[in-house]
Amino acid sequence: MKTWFITGISRGLGKALAQAALARGDTVIGTVREGAPALEAGIGKLHVIPVDLTDRAAIAPAVHTAFDKAAQIDVLVNNAGYGLLGALEEATDAEFERLFAVNVFAPFAIIRAALPALRRQGRGHILNITSIAGRAPAGSSGLYSATKSALEGLTQSLAQEIAPFGLKATAVAPGAFRTDFLSEHSLRRSQGGAQYAQSVGTGIARLDAMAGRQLGDPDQAAAAILKLVDAPNPPLHLLLGSDALRRAREKLDTVIDEIDRWEAVTRSTDFAQVD
Ligand SMILES: NC(=O)c1ccc[n+]([C@@H]2O[C@H](COP(=O)([O-])OP(=O)(O)OC[C@H]3O[C@@H](n4cnc5c(N)ncnc54)[C@H](OP(=O)(O)O)[C@@H]3O)[C@@H](O)[C@H]2O)c1
Repeated sequence: MKTWFITGISRGLGKALAQAALARGDTVIGTVREGAPALEAGIGKLHVIPVDLTDRAAIAPAVHTAFDKAAQIDVLVNNAGYGLLGALEEATDAEFERLFAVNVFAPFAIIRAALPALRRQGRGHILNITSIAGRAPAGSSGLYSATKSALEGLTQSLAQEIAPFGLKATAVAPGAFRTDFLSEHSLRRSQGGAQYAQSVGTGIARLDAMAGRQLGDPDQAAAAILKLVDAPNPPLHLLLGSDALRRAREKLDTVIDEIDRWEAVTRSTDFAQVD
């Protein structure tokens, strides 16, 4: 049985994960912005901590409260997050800063606040829910992709830094999952767009058409994450969904092809070897 700390258990992937963990008797300490999540604790144990992740000063106390409630935390999941659609040129500073606050600075603050206790435990697994958009960005959500790329990079360094303490980290990159993510309840949009109708507008129209019809099942994502945390040797990266798999493979092919085509230029910048 495991104890989890999961941000954003009110809806979507976080709620599905919390429900799956509770159903097998695990303990879930989850954050919500307000109210009580519609979750059945069943044979598990549920603790809810209210915190809005835009409130930086509230984050470390929320993590400390979580550790006060449990002897140890086995899995820490930075799940809460949201998307912003629109052209980079049209995003305001406020949109940019809020998005990074929730999607990047909050996970970082949570990890930093949790690490002393996790190091003392000598075991624990940090999961950062990133996105395929962080690895293979589309041209309609550049700032969102930037937040998820940041979290991917952070996870890769973190995993190396914490390995000597017996701690693990995984970046979990979902494709499109049928949650509220693309609904007006969650998604934000920058104003404007006329000049970018061809590139950004087309991408946004595609996402709007996908809302409510996404391929990914949140309950299956939860089951996959349980498999991940139960594995003796969990991966550094995990893609969720066949759409994420396709996009990741296409992206890797493109990157390798481009590296090969420009290899001579890349190599040309070294100092001449003097033996
Ligand atoms: N669904 C997808 O297609 C998809 C794809 C790739 C990555 N992801 C990532 O998966 C994660 C979960 O998204 P989802 O699909 O489950 O979306 P969702 O259904 O919209 O749920 C988002 C969750 O994040 C919480 N949240 C948002 N802003 C918050 C804030 N300021 N403070 C605290 N909590 C906040 C929400 O709480 P409230 O109920 O209080 O708003 C909610 O619990 C996100 O990081 C998202 O970027 C999703």
